[in-house]
Amino acid sequence: MTTDSTAPGVRIRDLTVVYKTPAGELPAVSGVDLTLTPGTITGIVGESGSGKSTLALSLLNAVQPPGRIAKGSVEIDGLGDVLTLGGEDLRRARGRQVGYVFQAAQNSLNPLKSIGKQLLDLGRSHDVADLRALVRDAKDLLARMGMDGARVLDSHQHELSGGMRQRVGIMLALALNAKVVVLDEPTTALDMITQATILRIIREIHEERSLTTLIITHDVGAVAEVADDLAVMYGGRVVEHGPINEVIGAPAHPYTRGLIRAIPRLSGDISLARALPGRPPTLGTLPVAGCVFRERCDTRMEVCETAEPAAVVRGGRTAACHALEHSPAPVRRKEYA
Ligand SMILES: Nc1ncnc2c1ncn2[C@@H]1O[C@H](COP(=O)(O)OP(=O)(O)O)[C@@H](O)[C@H]1O
Ligand SMILES: [Mg+2]
Repeated sequence: MTTDSTAPGVRIRDLTVVYKTPAGELPAVSGVDLTLTPGTITGIVGESGSGKSTLALSLLNAVQPPGRIAKGSVEIDGLGDVLTLGGEDLRRARGRQVGYVFQAAQNSLNPLKSIGKQLLDLGRSHDVADLRALVRDAKDLLARMGMDGARVLDSHQHELSGGMRQRVGIMLALALNAKVVVLDEPTTALDMITQATILRIIREIHEERSLTTLIITHDVGAVAEVADDLAVMYGGRVVEHGPINEVIGAPAHPYTRGLIRAIPRLSGDISLARALPGRPPTLGTLPVAGCVFRERCDTRMEVCETAEPAAVVRGGRTAACHALEHSPAPVRRKEYA
């Protein structure tokens, strides 16, 4: 872990984001509290629909209709509460102070302009004085990610594979030297080996530049290699959060246990690996009272039907589960101790 005073902290407090649906406004993110420690990489995992992308968009105050941030704050050191920013202040913050790759960013490049032209547009729109240096740094970043930088900058989006476009997206997120970087599924178009390599390079750059980084993925195994902290989302809640070795080594929440059990690489035994039964909720099927995970939970109790579990804090870890309030600390598995 790099703890550097220049890396900003990020404090998300009581964040609720709703989407308008035929059944009214329903929460995709509910009362989320999450702190990103300066200089760390936080991984966010959770099945599809758990609210990861909505949370990422909130960090840039970029939730679009039919969505709306209903409540909460996102304080970034040096920037203030992003949710109160608008207009030109917000435009400047995006890219310059908070670099980002949104999900499916490989499809969001401009098809009519070369990558190099888009890079220059980005630099000009943020009043970058030294555009040559911007191009040089971009080429370096692309080269580190295994590409011919000059050639990529001369290319149009259709000339690049999905995996190459994803790496271009990562380059653009890092190009303006933002100190907070949000990457939403940045490597899903890449094969396993390349994905691991790119995550490692992201880790290197994170350390070189003293960043505070958030990486969203549905692949717990991949992010386990690079993150310092892990946050687990389910049904719009952060159900568990803490140092990644502790969370993986001794998961406190039954959902985290289920996710890890499904991955042979982490559970340590292929014969024991099994998928988590059932399916995650959608906005329409999310229970309005009680614990959102109870339908799939093997430790559910009566109280889970009616009361939403509060976050139980133990050391640097939090988990929101009624069973924890009644049990001793979880047993730590040796290999992660
Ligand atoms: N534009 C939208 N309109 C309505 N519902 C949405 C919209 N975007 C996301 N949702 C819903 O919000 C929930 C969280 O979605 P999302 O943040 O994309 O989760 P994740 O990134 O974890 O897959 C899901 O139930 C999804 O269907
Ligand atoms: Mg998503």
